[in-house]
Amino acid sequence: MVRPYENYVDYLNNTICIPSVQPYIAIDMFAGCGGLSLGFEAAGIKTIGYEMVADCCETYRKNLNSECHQAKITIETEFPKVDLIIGGPPCQPFSRRGKQTGKNDERNGFPAFIEAVRKVQPAIWVCENVKGLPEQNKEYFQNIIEEFIALGYIVEYRVFQLVKYDVPQNRERLVIVGHRGGFQFPEPNEYKVTAGEALGHLTTEIPENAAFLTPAMDEYIAKYEAASKCKNPRDLHLDRPARTLTCRNLAGATSDMHRIKLPDGRRRRITVREAARLQSFPDWFEFSGTEESQFTQIGNAVPPMFAFKLATKIKEYLDNIKGQEVDV
Ligand SMILES: C[S@@+](CC[C@H](N)C(=O)[O-])C[C@H]1O[C@@H](n2cnc3c(N)ncnc32)[C@H](O)[C@@H]1O
Repeated sequence: MVRPYENYVDYLNNTICIPSVQPYIAIDMFAGCGGLSLGFEAAGIKTIGYEMVADCCETYRKNLNSECHQAKITIETEFPKVDLIIGGPPCQPFSRRGKQTGKNDERNGFPAFIEAVRKVQPAIWVCENVKGLPEQNKEYFQNIIEEFIALGYIVEYRVFQLVKYDVPQNRERLVIVGHRGGFQFPEPNEYKVTAGEALGHLTTEIPENAAFLTPAMDEYIAKYEAASKCKNPRDLHLDRPARTLTCRNLAGATSDMHRIKLPDGRRRRITVREAARLQSFPDWFEFSGTEESQFTQIGNAVPPMFAFKLATKIKEYLDNIKGQEVDV
């Protein structure tokens, strides 16, 4: 398929914006800074966020112009009646980096998500998580699916390579959808967007707040790359999609951190705006809090462009239901 735009940054800024007409309402559980919500809002679905971290709530309210309740979600939390529920229950209990305590970890957000679906009975719900969940926690994952089926939903899940959905980054996520028949996942592109296309002129300038790596850090990176037999230096390559952005490799000064190597050999960390572009946040979206907090919000987010493509299909599904109700 031919790319439907010439300039990625223009496409991003023109596509991920909030329309004045939004016929449906969603609850976003574990909303973070609102990456997932932003894609849904752009597709015409108003969102209400629930999130416990103050900076995230501030970012969400400021940009989405929507409510974000600052609260710790539990199975007791009450929600309003809405058309759909979306959200990414915390994935630390299941990620490869964590200890994989899974279902017994008190941070596990699935019980609260299932309870919310049970109480609200939305027309459709969407849950995103780490790609390894179905394999690495097979039994628990099957239990979750069975609980959702028992609530009366057809449950489908798929691991998505987000780079095939206009996200300039190699990032894979699991998406689980519960519906009552007739929902279709979005189809992948045959092309990929590179980091260079997404960053545009940002990389040709040295920003005022540039943070350069120290010689000791350069030395550490060289040793790390030699020891781990890293085939490609982990600097950002502008001619291909970026590596997965995470809170760890954005917010922490580790050997794995995202950085750009300048023609003079110096390396600088990518800025908050560059990280936001690689996660497909439009330029008008501003993050609250310290730099570390902003990087964490970005690394944790669902890329809004992917969320938009998924939400467009969800909206089609809701439109069809509405059409059928009118026909009756
Ligand atoms: C992976 S992030 C969500 C990212 C979000 N979907 C986005 O696209 O920006 C998970 C979020 O859940 C929040 N969280 C974790 N446990 C929570 C709880 N019990 N109640 C409310 N928020 C919680 C964390 O603070 C974090 O911001």
